[in-house]
Amino acid sequence: MTYRMTFRGAEIPAEPGQSVGAALVAAGILDWRTTRKEGRPRGLFCGIGVCYDCLITVDGARAERACLIPAADGMRLGDALDTGDALETGDGPDTGDAPGDDDRDGAAQHAEEDGDDAAHP
Ligand code: FES
Repeated sequence: MTYRMTFRGAEIPAEPGQSVGAALVAAGILDWRTTRKEGRPRGLFCGIGVCYDCLITVDGARAERACLIPAADGMRLGDALDTGDALETGDGPDTGDAPGDDDRDGAAQHAEEDGDDAAHP
């Protein structure tokens, strides 16, 4: 059975056992958030839950790691800081400059403050 998820209003297929991040990449979506300082695109990097580059909103839960979340039928995906309303319309905020960034996972925030823009070309 192929699962059906949505990302920014588009249908994304996923196979059982596939992570959200793997399903997005398989669908040709290589980035789904931007860095706060320079607005650079981010998606999968380590693929094992260490780097926090892959933060995404899953069914309204913000800042989840796409590489660790198993895909499921009916999942609604959005940018890392999307609200539930944005998930419905696909009109999420620009995550690079969104206010309220401080409630993200501390490790991700720390990674960016330590210059993740410079670490990943
Ligand atoms: S890709 Fe590194 S934590 Fe998900």
